[in-house]
Amino acid sequence: MCGIIGIASNKAVSTNIIESLKRLEYRGYDSAGLATLHNNQILEKKCTGRVEKLEKILFKNPALGSVGIGHVRWATHGVPNEVNAHPHSSEIVSVVHNGIIENSDQLKKDLESNGIKFKSQTDTEVITLLLTEEIKNESPIKSVQKTLKKLKGSFALGIIFKSFDNLIVGARRGSPLAVGYAKDENYLGSDSYALKSMTNKISYLDDGDVCVLTKNSVEFYNLEEKKINKKVHTLSDDKNLAEKGDYKNFMSKEIFEQPITVKNGINEYVDKIKNDINLYNFPIDPKSMEKIVLIACGTAYHSCLVAKYWFEEMSNIEVEIDVASEFRYRKIKFNKKNLYIFVSQSGETADTAAALQLCKDNNVKTCSVVNVVESSIARNSDWVLPLHAGPEVGVASTKAFLGQMLILYILCLKISFNRNEVNKDEYIQKINNLIKLPKAIDDILKKEDQIQLVAKDIYESKGSMFLGRGTSFPIALEGALKLKELSYLHAEGYPAGEMKHGPLALIEDGLPVIVIAPKDKYFEKTFSNTQEVIARGGKVLLITDKHEMVINENIRFKIDVPFIEESLSPFILTIPLQLLAYHVALLKNCDIDKPRNLAKSVTVE
Ligand code: F6R
Repeated sequence: MCGIIGIASNKAVSTNIIESLKRLEYRGYDSAGLATLHNNQILEKKCTGRVEKLEKILFKNPALGSVGIGHVRWATHGVPNEVNAHPHSSEIVSVVHNGIIENSDQLKKDLESNGIKFKSQTDTEVITLLLTEEIKNESPIKSVQKTLKKLKGSFALGIIFKSFDNLIVGARRGSPLAVGYAKDENYLGSDSYALKSMTNKISYLDDGDVCVLTKNSVEFYNLEEKKINKKVHTLSDDKNLAEKGDYKNFMSKEIFEQPITVKNGINEYVDKIKNDINLYNFPIDPKSMEKIVLIACGTAYHSCLVAKYWFEEMSNIEVEIDVASEFRYRKIKFNKKNLYIFVSQSGETADTAAALQLCKDNNVKTCSVVNVVESSIARNSDWVLPLHAGPEVGVASTKAFLGQMLILYILCLKISFNRNEVNKDEYIQKINNLIKLPKAIDDILKKEDQIQLVAKDIYESKGSMFLGRGTSFPIALEGALKLKELSYLHAEGYPAGEMKHGPLALIEDGLPVIVIAPKDKYFEKTFSNTQEVIARGGKVLLITDKHEMVINENIRFKIDVPFIEESLSPFILTIPLQLLAYHVALLKNCDIDKPRNLAKSVTVE
């Protein structure tokens, strides 16, 4: 959450800051701002809303200077308004910040008791004002190091100083920060994606690191304030994948890209000639693994929920799942024979990263299933399984969800086979079926018209409910999450069998109820629950691969999806739910790629 950019150059920087902020907007978009140094002055421009607005302000009133910092905000302390937008500047320093300063109230009281006045409601301004005091007697780097000692919480910072017109200081504790290198220009950024249009040479700060950038030098200091060297990574060139091409928005592009996402994942991990899965170097031999613990947030957590059913079906291994924000504070009994798996598109989610760190601190083996291979979570894990889904820009996760399920499915199959819990014939059969998946996803995407009709029918409703059993329960949760985050229409996901324990009370005339009922062992039971809904006036959309089923005239809509094999149904059933959320949001004129109040990379607790 919140995006930071800093550029030290020998030419004007504001245009490149704006371009980088546009790439960072997925991290926060309620306000934007930048500060440059010019003629021994800090020039600050900021506004509520999007980077486009900031760009227009700069067009009329340019910010000159060859050193600058920029920020897109996702509000934590203080409403999204111009005063609370970053940078936060005094006459002497200017600061952009991602994260939360947990002791800001106390620090603010201390500063105020010394007669220092605050302009904003943010926690960030505390840093600005502490630095303004320290820099009176110290060098920039020392003033930052002394200020950092007073701060509690997690953060990434970018700082410029009025009297140092070729200097940016960055600092990281908890929240990610990267440095990029080019000729006569160096960069600071919340992630490599922000810097990719300018360079492919990147270093990452570790927790506690401070960096000092000029246009032709970069220095790093660790927590002990010792000068250190950093590895320089060369990034892969996937710029084009992050363009939306002819699509209306990134989300529709990413939904329609899913056959390719799955194909890429299969090509990466499946040997179609040998009928085998290319997964080696397990940090623990699958035969001696006692338990698999899956940890994630949001949509990524839903992929773990699905995987739990797969592991239970295919193997005898015990599986535990938890949302990262709970796991990190639980009193966990760690076991060296367990494999702890962290699933994350961005690889930067604060809670997931903290849960991973907890495992590292307890010396247990970790694996990450991530899309961004340069991310903190990937770099901190013993074993990394990349999704190979390409950049996902739409804030609501779609193709990464399918990618996450794919990797977890492949992992489950390989572990179960290595443990002799799936025999050779089943293994080969399942691999052959998996290869059919991209085509099936392609086929269901062709049903967009039908789903558009359903969207028209439900978009003015007050709420909705999504029901499923078995693996279709997490898919119901995912369908509900997509609908609520994109269209702001209230949506509840429930195990169909739980309805009569309370939620049935919500069913009234015309309430849309989306029932996910593939032909599995639960079908008849789910269908009985559907009848209970219909009897109370619910308007049912049934999504099923049981084509032979005689349709009950009281079901308002039925979407038939392809069938390959039972365990692959979650992939196929997800697609209509993504399209439904997308079309409802489109009809409601919502900002599809940037839903209100959200951000793509959740780097605060
Ligand atoms: C919902 C969504 C979020 C993320 C969650 C975790 O569409 O995208 O729920 O899944 O914030 O993010 P990652 O996967 O980056 O750890």
